[in-house]
Amino acid sequence: MQLENLTSFIGTEVKSIDLREPVSDDDFAVLRDALNQRSVLLFRGQSIDESQHVAFSRRFGPLLGHVLTQFLKKEHPEVYVLSNVSENGKPIGNHKEGWNWHSDLSYKAEPSMGALLYALEVPPVEGDTFFASMHAAYEALADDMKARIRHMTATHSYANYYGKAFADRNPLTPEQLAATPNVVHPLVRTHPETGRLSLYVGEDVVKQIDGLPAEESTALLAELNAHAISPEFSYRHKWLAGDLLVWDNRCTMHRATPYDDNVYRRVMHRATPYDDNVYRRVMHRTTPYDDNVYRRVMHRTTVAGDRPF
Ligand code: OGA
Ligand code: MN
Repeated sequence: MQLENLTSFIGTEVKSIDLREPVSDDDFAVLRDALNQRSVLLFRGQSIDESQHVAFSRRFGPLLGHVLTQFLKKEHPEVYVLSNVSENGKPIGNHKEGWNWHSDLSYKAEPSMGALLYALEVPPVEGDTFFASMHAAYEALADDMKARIRHMTATHSYANYYGKAFADRNPLTPEQLAATPNVVHPLVRTHPETGRLSLYVGEDVVKQIDGLPAEESTALLAELNAHAISPEFSYRHKWLAGDLLVWDNRCTMHRATPYDDNVYRRVMHRATPYDDNVYRRVMHRTTPYDDNVYRRVMHRTTVAGDRPF
């Protein structure tokens, strides 16, 4: 296994590894560490089937499904399909998914840890995916902006995203709406493994920054989104069939780009690990002492956590 960085801030290509074979614990520890440091891992030239894709993805955490259950593979419901292809008059995957900047499943109370997207068929031109480092974006903010937003929260809304991205489709059913209530997340989150801070924003799925007048919220969100997607923090991936990309949704955003969907087919399979490291549990206890003889007086202040991250 060899590792080669793709850009200065984000992305590492992993070479000489065949993901049809189980990855040893030692190699997996190297991959996990590389993902924590570099946020995106690229494996080219793979030929994995669905169960191998699922097995490798599970190493990163338990896998999440999707509210649009029609796009989950029947035999492997951990696999979510993105595609413009229809079979027997039915789309086999969600087309135009993620054509704006987002972090996957940020609309859930406990969002994804990352995603593993495998390219089965890709157009020869366009249909690329951009990734941006939200660590780099946060760290490049001016100090007064860092201080201003450090403890702010934002409301993430799947309904808001769906309404904008898929305005031409049937609206979400009452069941789908009930399964995707709006959620509140910190605007600046802490990476649960490295402790590094990052910006947690997004287009469309992030409906508002909480506690601000609507205009101010819209303006601040636009400013942060524009900053977050600066080319200097990003990597543009040109897909080849057989590419598997793994990304860390705790500290990146990404977006797909359009392509000539009348001419070309694009078929992508995604598995989406859940962040089972959301809460870090630390316990403590006090030991007894001779309380007939000694006095013990302690004062405590209690800092609100910005977790669940
Ligand atoms: C995703 C996604 C982008 C693409 O799989 O989560 O946003 O290029 N995909 O298909
Ligand atoms: Mn996505």
